[in-house]
Amino acid sequence: VVKDQFYFNLYESVFSALPFGILVLDRNQGIVCANKRFYSLFNTREEEPKGKRIQDFLPSWELENHIRCVQADGGVREVELHLKEPSGETKALKITVIGITVVKGIINESSVLLVLEDISERIKLEEQLVQSEKLAAMGELAASITHELGNPLSVMSSTLQYIQGRLKGKEDDISNEIDVIVDSLKRMDELLRGLSDFKTPEQLRFEQEDIHKALSQVLTLVSREARNANVEIKTELAPNPLRCWHDPRQMKQVFLNLFKNAIEAMPYGGYLEIRTWFSPAGGSESRSTIIIEISDAGVGISEEELSLIFKPFYSTKKGGSGLGLPFCRRVIMAHNGTITVKSLKGKGTTFTISIPSDRRREDKR
Ligand SMILES: Nc1ncnc2c1ncn2[C@@H]1O[C@H](COP(=O)(O)OP(=O)(O)OP(=O)(O)O)[C@@H](O)[C@H]1O
Ligand SMILES: [Mg+2]
Repeated sequence: VVKDQFYFNLYESVFSALPFGILVLDRNQGIVCANKRFYSLFNTREEEPKGKRIQDFLPSWELENHIRCVQADGGVREVELHLKEPSGETKALKITVIGITVVKGIINESSVLLVLEDISERIKLEEQLVQSEKLAAMGELAASITHELGNPLSVMSSTLQYIQGRLKGKEDDISNEIDVIVDSLKRMDELLRGLSDFKTPEQLRFEQEDIHKALSQVLTLVSREARNANVEIKTELAPNPLRCWHDPRQMKQVFLNLFKNAIEAMPYGGYLEIRTWFSPAGGSESRSTIIIEISDAGVGISEEELSLIFKPFYSTKKGGSGLGLPFCRRVIMAHNGTITVKSLKGKGTTFTISIPSDRRREDKR
């Protein structure tokens, strides 16, 4: 009996310590028992799942189908489900359906074991990786385009200015028309300059430095522009230095892009708020990070638009290049960090940057 109790306790603690949601179903797909992780995945209390059916938590015909197949033929099946959370985010679950046999007195009853794994983070990372590979390819393309087009453009523009000079004062003065061409060339040149920001991250120069330094330099830089736009800058910075391994020059470009976007989102003024803090490792975070949060009270971004704003050339602005945010993401990823955005149409937008505060061997350079 003592031995039985020992095994019971052992199973119980293994069952509740596993980082997967685990469920046992009876023949009618009712929940017989569930472990701790399952409760936290669905934000329910311990008593709740018992007596309920799996469909109450995961209404999916696909899953139901797999469970039926496993009930009939045994074996193992896998299914991936994407659930919309009340917060608007999607949760991705990998569910493994496994046939088991439970001895019940003298009868063997076949039931089903479900193993649920939250793969939302992994999917997000994979998406970012695809995006960053695209951007890297674009960087190479951009570098060659800038190189090939830069020279002819400046030749055209100086030749036109020469022609303009020769025609000045003559009867058929077309210098206004030529001005139009010169202006267009200038615009093309600016676009090219924007593209050349996409240089490969080999050019990053990392330093162990307080991030507030870069931040406050950029704040000084935009303060006049903010004042002119009737935008009040509020800061709530961590009292201590937030030292981290970063390239100050590139990070300043990131801040500049984000501040400019924020100011541009408030045509009638408003406020731009910058908060920073240190976030220690623990919970789901494996390392301590430095967080920089940039909020505005601007026009906001709709949910459909949110999936587009980090894509190169997506812009809703007249004359916008749409390269600002892709550049920011690229730099932050080169810092092993993340940049995320939350927004409410008509209310405002918050960008959150998180970068590791300590340097690890796997960090490049
Ligand atoms: N703070 C913000 N509030 C509202 N919309 C934003 C904000 N930041 C970005 N956006 C949206 O995302 C789009 C892409 O931004 P991004 O910085 O990449 O390019 P851009 O600002 O349009 O052009 P550029 O940066 O070259 O001036 C913007 O056109 C705008 O629609
Ligand atoms: Mg921009």
